[in-house]
Amino acid sequence: MLFAVSYLVWAFLPLLRVNACSRVTYHAVTDDRITIGRSMDFVASTNSSIYIFPAGLERNGSVDANPLEWTSKYGSIVTTMYDSVTIDGMNSAGLTGSILYLGPSDYGARNTSRPGLAIGIWLQYYLDTYDTVASAVADLETLNLQVVTAPLVPGVSSVGHISLSDKSGDNLIIEYKNGQLVTHHGAEYQVMTNDPFYDEQLAIWEYWQPMTNYSLPGTGSPADRFVRLAYYNQMSPESPDLMTSVATTAAMIRAVSVPFVPESLINKELDVWPTLWRVYYDTKDMVMWYESAVTPIAIYMDFGDYNLSNNGTVQRLGLAETSWENLYGDMKGKFADAKVFKPI
Ligand SMILES: *[C@@H]1O[C@H](CO)[C@@H](O)[C@H](O)[C@H]1NC(C)=O
Ligand SMILES: *[C@@H]1O[C@H](CO)[C@@H](O)[C@H](O)[C@H]1NC(C)=O
Ligand SMILES: *[C@@H]1O[C@H](CO)[C@@H](O)[C@H](O)[C@H]1NC(C)=O
Ligand SMILES: *[C@@H]1O[C@H](CO)[C@@H](O)[C@H](O)[C@H]1NC(C)=O
Ligand SMILES: *[C@@H]1O[C@H](CO)[C@@H](O)[C@H](O)[C@H]1NC(C)=O
Ligand SMILES: *[C@@H]1O[C@H](CO)[C@@H](O)[C@H](O)[C@H]1NC(C)=O
Repeated sequence: MLFAVSYLVWAFLPLLRVNACSRVTYHAVTDDRITIGRSMDFVASTNSSIYIFPAGLERNGSVDANPLEWTSKYGSIVTTMYDSVTIDGMNSAGLTGSILYLGPSDYGARNTSRPGLAIGIWLQYYLDTYDTVASAVADLETLNLQVVTAPLVPGVSSVGHISLSDKSGDNLIIEYKNGQLVTHHGAEYQVMTNDPFYDEQLAIWEYWQPMTNYSLPGTGSPADRFVRLAYYNQMSPESPDLMTSVATTAAMIRAVSVPFVPESLINKELDVWPTLWRVYYDTKDMVMWYESAVTPIAIYMDFGDYNLSNNGTVQRLGLAETSWENLYGDMKGKFADAKVFKPI
């Protein structure tokens, strides 16, 4: 009986807001190095895999009518959720991108005269196609594409915004508000978390900024994480080399992470979700790190070790089914040939 009642309550709850993440672009000025970090906070295991996608793949938007079609121009190394969404990645030109949850996103009712793109392949399109943020910006208006979303796990809406960054430190935030595209483009947009929309997030940061030397907001809410991360990044020291730069970025992302609790113990009323993993990219030496919250050591992929050109093959490393003893250090040689996944 209890079970039936709680099931009903679940069924009638509005779609949960369960994906909360943080992202930062760190610039080591004297070393002329851009390093990006991102955390993934989620209500359930993301069953993630890392994919190697070469250039030359024929792709489509995976929607019924008028899907966008393209051939990947750049190879990429990406992290997926449930082998059905590219959620984070970097391509061979050093363009990095992340999808972070944004509850009020509204992509508009499907208009089949616009090319459609399922949310599972949305970010992959950018990684496949552009070498810089500026080149992505140049296409945005003329493309007029429409994101089509579907639930990833039952009862959880799959809606988000994208942050892209390139080797030069340029950034682009892509959001959809009431069906309209809203973007923020520039080197200054180095931090992104979740709700509310980015313009409001910037206003909250502006309010806090004069106080941040004395007081920082400390909860796991998206606005608090944004303010802390923006402050840490503003105050971050110089880094002379790759390792220091990645360590500095990792320190900031860890400092806005939410302590791990297993799924069964999450207090869903708090609307704060445990950090499950983090990724870091160095766009100068072209290395990616992946750090699980439940293993003690990070793994890494050096882009020079993988065939991302158009004679490479699709490869996959299933993190969920690989025991943690096999997930530390260099992942060279640990990938298996695979097929492209079917995006939601
Ligand atoms: C994630 O993997 C677990 C274990 O294999 C499985 O029980 C669960 O259904 C998967 N979740 C999704 C949404 O695919
Ligand atoms: C679209 O891409 C999928 C792979 O994601 C592929 O299986 C399918 O055949 C493609 N559809 C068309 C019409 O090309
Ligand atoms: C659908 O998209 C086309 C192309 O952008 C536009 O001209 C048309 O007004 C849109 N229709 C609706 C109902 O929004
Ligand atoms: C915070 O402290 C730094 C370092 O002393 C200083 O440069 C900056 O102006 C201060 N910011 C504010 C808003 O007081
Ligand atoms: C890339 O592919 C070529 C041709 O298949 C192969 O000879 C080469 O060893 C590969 N390089 C790496 C780094 O795997
Ligand atoms: C891989 O493809 C590139 C570009 O088409 C070509 O220049 C190169 O020779 C190829 N390498 C191998 C090992 O086939």
